[in-house]
Amino acid sequence: MLKRLTILFLVFALLLVACGGNNETTNEQPAATSAPEEPEDTGDVEEPEEPAEPAEPAEELAVGIVLPTREEPRWIQDETRFREALEAEGYDVEILFSQGDSAVELANVEQLITRGVQVLILTPHDGAAAAAAAEAANSAGVKVIAYDRLILNTDAVDYYVTFDSIAVGAAQAQYLVDNAEGTDNPLYLYAGAATDNNAFLFFEGAWNVLQPKIADGTFRIVNSSEAVALQDNAELTRDEMGQIIGQITTEWDFDTAKSLAEANLTAAPAEDKGDVFILAPNDGTARAIADAFGADADVSSYIVTGQDAEIASVQYIIDGLQSMTVLKDVRTLVADAIAAAVAYLTGSTPPETNTYNNGTIDVPAKPSEVISVDQSNVQEVIIDSGYWDASEFTGLP
Ligand code: BGC
Repeated sequence: MLKRLTILFLVFALLLVACGGNNETTNEQPAATSAPEEPEDTGDVEEPEEPAEPAEPAEELAVGIVLPTREEPRWIQDETRFREALEAEGYDVEILFSQGDSAVELANVEQLITRGVQVLILTPHDGAAAAAAAEAANSAGVKVIAYDRLILNTDAVDYYVTFDSIAVGAAQAQYLVDNAEGTDNPLYLYAGAATDNNAFLFFEGAWNVLQPKIADGTFRIVNSSEAVALQDNAELTRDEMGQIIGQITTEWDFDTAKSLAEANLTAAPAEDKGDVFILAPNDGTARAIADAFGADADVSSYIVTGQDAEIASVQYIIDGLQSMTVLKDVRTLVADAIAAAVAYLTGSTPPETNTYNNGTIDVPAKPSEVISVDQSNVQEVIIDSGYWDASEFTGLP
């Protein structure tokens, strides 16, 4: 028992000390990018009578984390949850951001390799471009964990920590279906960035649910001639999805989403407005698109989807400006990523319930479940569960 605890302690220390924090010794590491304040000393982990394994110098990083951008609240959520999970034990974490630039991402990964990481946790900005970073890590003997987004077209990915992204798209589409009555309802489609494999998975999940309802006349696609041309196909190839996504992409960018929605509304005649249904791929773009639709005098009501349970979108839901979001509990993803890293550091393999083909190999994964959230369950799922604090919001039911 004591032995188990000691091993656990050592593993965690290896994982965490490495991430820049070094308990009680010096804290003057060659600052890399974004190392925040120093470690606090907390209870549990410090006290056992360790055979004083000297704290590793910062160059001996065991795990490195690279996230795609600070410009979206979604990834700040992940950063915060990683810090909460790791710093709870009294250590600093260093997390690098790529700011939507594959060259910065590669430089971040190279920096971590130079500093001696053994495990890399990477959310690619561009899934295909990130193959180079994964291969650099792999050649240096580093285990590569793709985090939330798959790294494409390479065998240099060891594991994929993810949510069930097809289920995300299906939940969004199901919400539209559940709120539609009669026939000929105007449907506006929007998607994520084509460089992100998830954009395809979300769209695929949505199409599976929407296509039969387009075929039976419940919905009429307004803003994509490519989707109209393919609307009789129950299943789409990746190329076909690519054609549609190319026409309705938001690039995961709020301004692009808003401009595209405005252009669609300008082009649409009044009979394509009224009570409308909008597939928006995530919360940031949902708010931008909702703002555009809300400002159009010919739109009398809209149902709009989202995902990520961002604070601003939860407020939009409370205020009736966004209809739903999909909660992907980032705490689960973070815990899975840390568990996978620890598995590799101890010479074992993380659990696998599924695989995702990345164009070259089937990458082992364990996708997590997602939950639909709207006004009817926001209190229970978001507040009562402790995901966000009630003080973040006004006008809760
Ligand atoms: C993530 C979403 C996120 C989107 C934009 C996707 O890969 O799964 O949660 O909203 O990227 O950053």
